[in-house]
Amino acid sequence: QIAFYKDTFLDLDDPIVPIQDRAHQFGDGIYEVIRVYNGQPFCLAEHLDRLEISADAIQMKLPYSREELITLIQKGLSQSLIPEAEIYLQISRGAAPRLHSFPEPDNSVLTMVIKEARIVAPDLKEGGVDICAVEEDRWKNCYIKSLNLLSNVLAKQKAKDSGCQESIYVEEGIVKEGSSSNIFCVSNGELYTFPAKRTILHGITRQKVIDLAADLQIPVHEIESNLSFFERADEVFITSTTMEVQAVKRFGETSYPDERPVTERIQKAFEALKP
Ligand code: PDD
Repeated sequence: QIAFYKDTFLDLDDPIVPIQDRAHQFGDGIYEVIRVYNGQPFCLAEHLDRLEISADAIQMKLPYSREELITLIQKGLSQSLIPEAEIYLQISRGAAPRLHSFPEPDNSVLTMVIKEARIVAPDLKEGGVDICAVEEDRWKNCYIKSLNLLSNVLAKQKAKDSGCQESIYVEEGIVKEGSSSNIFCVSNGELYTFPAKRTILHGITRQKVIDLAADLQIPVHEIESNLSFFERADEVFITSTTMEVQAVKRFGETSYPDERPVTERIQKAFEALKP
């Protein structure tokens, strides 16, 4: 594993981040998690596009150009020698005396960590994960991949405490997304997922699934669906960079059949995208 902070490659355990870095004093920053397959970053352009969208949304200048970022990522990957890796990119608004308003001039800082990819345990990958509902309590700009993840942390812990692998945010009965994933259900052979509004993260894997479904001529409905629609669905799956396309076995009290024809078609098509 390898780390990078403000222009320098380091050891992951080096105690290097200044006390006044706004990432940990305010959560004032943004991030991306990128999966590497066979030494190649997957959907890198999409992740960098989203990083730019997040930066613009919080009026933060990125410390590197896109070309420089790509070069740094490549350099990190070749130093790390990990073919199946996970890249964590974080941009903080930098270190400055603790004042809520932006520091001047802008001194944003890149943190990068490259390590072995986390993978879902084979029995869960195959058999499906259990998920549970939590009440939405986040702000209205969840399309920004912000470092403020306290609600997500609490939601994930709640899932863990109740023997589940993921919590799903539900707002006034509407199923939105997971604490670190997007969610789909299959009803009569068609896909349903919450629309890409400002109130959810526009997942890169979510979009890949929508594109693959189009190729496979599976209709996709980006509409708001309620919990009882999900409970009556034939199949449910969640998507993320780290979990890929992950079948769901149980959602709260509802169990889904072991046969998942549509999920499996999407999973197969997703596998074929990997380098
Ligand atoms: N999480 N929704 C939320 C709230 C997320 O945090 C994530 C990703 C997703 C899925 O997005 P994508 O397909 O682009 O990974 C949806 C990352 C992996 C994380 O925080 O570790």
